[in-house]
Amino acid sequence: MNETIRLLNQRKSVRAYEDKPIPAEVKEEIIKSAMRAPTAGNMMLYSIIDITDQTIKDRLAESCDHQPFIAQAPLVLMFFADYQRWYDYFKVCGVTDALGIREDEVRTPEEGDLMLACSDALIAAQNAVVAAEALGLGSCYIGDIIENYELHKELLNLPDYVFPISMIVFGYPTEQQKERQQPERYDKKFILFENTYKQLDKDDFNEMYANTHERMKSFHGGKLEKSAGEIMYTKKYTADFTKEMNRSARAAMKMWQQKTKK
Ligand SMILES: Cc1cc2nc3c(=O)[nH]c(=O)nc-3n(C[C@H](O)[C@H](O)[C@H](O)COP(=O)(O)O)c2cc1C
Repeated sequence: MNETIRLLNQRKSVRAYEDKPIPAEVKEEIIKSAMRAPTAGNMMLYSIIDITDQTIKDRLAESCDHQPFIAQAPLVLMFFADYQRWYDYFKVCGVTDALGIREDEVRTPEEGDLMLACSDALIAAQNAVVAAEALGLGSCYIGDIIENYELHKELLNLPDYVFPISMIVFGYPTEQQKERQQPERYDKKFILFENTYKQLDKDDFNEMYANTHERMKSFHGGKLEKSAGEIMYTKKYTADFTKEMNRSARAAMKMWQQKTKK
């Protein structure tokens, strides 16, 4: 099998790491690979922060839904959707003079710009994940970085048009993590459609979740009365961390709503 395809197919998230530092050149390769990712209009609408300060790692481990392994990871990279750099540049490069507009007429970034910048940041992030995997490192995304927007803004000195869309923790996997079974995915027929979207019906869902239910059952010692949907609904979709994530994202979105004077 092609080596890249094998790598992609064998990957799984790693949440426990050997007590082994990551050599500077390995970190450099990961960051270089992230920065080679495709980017909208080659604008690189993202920034990366390498969190090396243990106090900040400790705070992130708490603010990201109390996940202690974040603090133990030898490498923590945060990926930001970043339109601040271009917005600032538009002002300093003289667009106001060139276009004969006032500074407060320079359009502020909006929701679509945020989505495009998020795409850029996440694509770069995934390049980092794949590069790390190729170099023998495990990784885990931390979606909870979308929570506590105000706290992270203050902690990392983020300007208004910089949004923390993703955090990834990296480290050499422990033996236990190497041996851990790779989580299964849903069958392709529920994920890949041809030419038009197919909304799933009850029979599809019964089939789609039959395996998930069996897996959850064995995880819960062979007994499980609730459906996968009920468990997901209560433990994820309506959980406190999800409520906080939505509140936080809403607060950030407010920043990205048009403020330009017409
Ligand atoms: C956007 C995103 C957010 C995630 N957030 C977390 C997280 O906060 N904590 C965690 O332990 N894993 C997190 N993960 C890892 C997923 O739980 C993991 O990818 C999923 O269970 C599938 O397992 P696999 O990556 O081993 O195939 C996240 C993954 C993604 C893509």
